Amino acid sequence: METVKVELGARAYPVHVGQGLLGRGDLLLPHLRQPKVAIVTNTTVAPLYLQRFAKPLRDAGIDVVEVILPDGERFKNWQTLNTIFDVLLERCCERSTTLIALGGGVVGDMTGFAAACYQRGMPFIQVPTTLLSQVDSSIGGKTAINHPLGKNMIGAFYQPAVVLADTETLDTLPDRELRAGLAEVIKNGLIRDLPFLDWLEANLERVLAREPQALEYAICRSCQNKAEVVVADEHENGERALLNIGHTFGHAIETGMGYGEWLHGEAVAAGTLMAAELSRRLGWISVADVARVEALFTRASLPVFGPAMEVDRYLELMQHDKKVQNGKLRLVLFREIGRAVVSDCATPAQIAEAIGARSEHV
Ligand code: NAD
Ligand code: GLY
Repeated sequence: METVKVELGARAYPVHVGQGLLGRGDLLLPHLRQPKVAIVTNTTVAPLYLQRFAKPLRDAGIDVVEVILPDGERFKNWQTLNTIFDVLLERCCERSTTLIALGGGVVGDMTGFAAACYQRGMPFIQVPTTLLSQVDSSIGGKTAINHPLGKNMIGAFYQPAVVLADTETLDTLPDRELRAGLAEVIKNGLIRDLPFLDWLEANLERVLAREPQALEYAICRSCQNKAEVVVADEHENGERALLNIGHTFGHAIETGMGYGEWLHGEAVAAGTLMAAELSRRLGWISVADVARVEALFTRASLPVFGPAMEVDRYLELMQHDKKVQNGKLRLVLFREIGRAVVSDCATPAQIAEAIGARSEHV
């Protein structure tokens, strides 16, 4: 087991990564404030892992409440969030009961938001079971639900007490989901970790083949990157925004196509190519740099063009981005490969041209 520490002072927490951690109740027990937890999961993950995960807790005398949500990005909304509160109240969960997210980023984001709100805040633990959630969404305390007009628009910063990433759970993850998670792995190399980008270029096929050593290395390195950024800028006043390379375009794709049609990682991949194309048009990176980004995402079988959607529709949806300031769009772009920046210097026409160049024709 490897452990990455998120050094947030009084709210510091460990991220444990390794095989078979679902059975390690001992890693969670010290973080519980009372012998009662509520595990939130979904209809796909529950039959695979809920009992394996709950058993050591029950064996240790913990009262375990189960909350099973419908599966899918389209359920990441108020209605589903409210069903969590229904169960917590019906089962008399208290402010000291711990809420545990067992699942991917959708379960994690919703559970974290529920924990931030229930009785004004209850302890929260992340047990991520997708590649994307193990390398990104379970760390850093961003929690949210979607609004029909915009992705992750309603939420809170709320840190977990511990993250338990059992890499064995990835054995059952569909290939498409593994590839979507890789988009967030590759992102770390592209924005701030060139040696990791080189490593990924040399080892991508090993990761895609789920070779345990390669996969664990990619996960731990991504967790280290994420932890460093979160510690430097927990509430996204600066550097943390760089983790959102491609996301302004990507969120527009997810919302515009209907939540769940494009996986988050797929939309991020296509969005990152739009960011690269715009950076090239600003003279910051070269054609060869864009080709380098495209080649890696292509090897991961991720989309490198956005879907056919009117450019004006992209631009309209992008106005709901959380980086918009005084009505002005700010985008994460490449100053060079390995160094991203937040910039508002691209004109609407340049942004529109980059989208047009990197999306399928309408
Ligand atoms: P997801 O949660 O929808 O999971 C993907 C699919 O895999 C689902 O069908 C799920 O039920 C299934 N699944 C989960 N674990 C499995 C397993 N071990 N075996 C088989 N199937 C399994 O998607 P995701 O990619 O994990 O997360 C995407 C979400 O994360 C988006 O809503 C995105 O906005 C959010 N996100 C949040 C942050 C953050 O910082 N909070 C960062 C990145 C993404
Ligand atoms: N996924 C981007 C962030 O956590 O800031």
